[in-house]
Amino acid sequence: TINVLWAALLGYAFGSIPFGLILAKLAGKGDIRQQGSGNIGATNVLRTGSKGLAAATLLLDLAKGLVPVLIAWNLFWQEVGWTALFAVIGHCFPVWLGFKGGKGVATNAGVAFGLAWPLGAVYAVVWLGMLAITRISSVAGMSAVVATALAAAYFQWWTLVKVLSLIAVLVIWLHRENIKRLAAGTEPKVGSKG
Ligand code: G3P
Repeated sequence: TINVLWAALLGYAFGSIPFGLILAKLAGKGDIRQQGSGNIGATNVLRTGSKGLAAATLLLDLAKGLVPVLIAWNLFWQEVGWTALFAVIGHCFPVWLGFKGGKGVATNAGVAFGLAWPLGAVYAVVWLGMLAITRISSVAGMSAVVATALAAAYFQWWTLVKVLSLIAVLVIWLHRENIKRLAAGTEPKVGSKG
C-alpha cells in the first residue's frame, strides 16, 4: 500500500540527518569526514577530543531511530518495520551527503528500543557490555546488532527478525574496513585517536 512509502519516508527523513557532521562543524571542529576514521558517528566525533560532542551525537543519532518508529506505531503500525529499516538506511546513505553516511549502530539502538523495549534492552546490555570488555566500538556495535536480531528470533517476532537481520547485514558490511583493521590488529580503542 501507499503507507509503505510514507513509513519508509518517515524513517529516512529522520535517519538521514547527519548530527555528527553538523555538531562537529558547529563546534568548530571542522569536517568530521576528514578526520579519524572519516565516519560521521559518535565514535569518530569522540576522536576530536570532545566527550560532550560525542555524547550529543550518540543521543541524537539514537533519537532519530527511536522517534520515527514511535510515530509510525501511531500512524501506520502495520508498516513500522519499513520505518525502522529506512531510519538506519537514512543514516547510512543520506542523500544530503551524496549517500555517504555512517555505520548505523546508534540509530539502530533507537530503532530497537522503539520496536520493542526488550530488544532495546538486549541491544544496550550487549553494546555496553562488549564496549566495557573490548573497548572497541566496532566490535561492541556489531555484537549488539547481531544479538538483537537473534533476540527477536528468540521471541519469535518474525517480522522484526526480517527487519533486524537486514539491518545487521547492512551494518556489518559497512564495518568492512573496521573488520580489516581488527584482523590486522590495528583497530583503535575508544578514546584513542584513530
Ligand atoms: O558506529 C561506528 C563504530 O562502530 C565504528 O566507528 O569511527 O571506529 O569506524 P569508527
